[in-house]
Amino acid sequence: MLAIIGGSGLTTLSNLDVSHREVVRTPFGEPSGALVFGEICGKPAMFLPRHGYGHTIAPHMVNYRANLWAIHHHKATGIISVASVGGIREDMGPGEIVIPNQIIDYTWGRKSTYFEGVDSPVTHVDFTEPYDAKLRQRIQDAAASLNIPIKLGGVYAATQGPRLETAAEINRMERDGADLVGMTGMPEAVLARELNTPYAAINVVANHAAGRGSSANGIRFESLEVVLHEAMGKVRGIIERLVSSQEM
Ligand code: HPA
Repeated sequence: MLAIIGGSGLTTLSNLDVSHREVVRTPFGEPSGALVFGEICGKPAMFLPRHGYGHTIAPHMVNYRANLWAIHHHKATGIISVASVGGIREDMGPGEIVIPNQIIDYTWGRKSTYFEGVDSPVTHVDFTEPYDAKLRQRIQDAAASLNIPIKLGGVYAATQGPRLETAAEINRMERDGADLVGMTGMPEAVLARELNTPYAAINVVANHAAGRGSSANGIRFESLEVVLHEAMGKVRGIIERLVSSQEM
């Protein structure tokens, strides 16, 4: 069963025919909310809103370990993570849908491993390719079958937040090789890897990153809400196609 983690702009999955909800208790505390189980076109899926149902949990306060543990506990065969981002690369403007292939992690102080504690052996997971290639391909196929244009590949910069970046920070991230910037991609991706669960992301560009394009003098999300809403509609379509076309 696929799991979908929703972000800003995707706090519910309207096309999920809900069968039940479950509050999962984990050794790492409480997930962001109850896991929602159901079917999309007859195929099972589960959903969790990363920021909670009332969108009250800030990126640096999300209990990523509890979220991923709960999803893994319910035997997810893969995780699709949806998140809105700022676009750094010129061709990644508001409304673009990007399937990133790499990550640079600028976050700090987040609990980012399951391998800690006195009895836990030191473990270094391989993270050369942070996203699952097969899952990325399935997202690509689903989008192609719906004629929804997406951008394949991009370097995602994970920042601490909750504040947005300065223009100089964005310039530095670009020099580092980043194309997109968001606040929630890490440690989510690495925890999925530690749990051996295939993980891929769908990023929706909500705004030009600080100092770029329409954000040259500041970031104003209000004017971009329509764009984000429209793009999230397409993401819902992609997810529906992806879930309904899986074997089981
Ligand atoms: N920066 C960081 N995270 C974001 C942005 C941004 O510009 N837009 C949406 N999430």
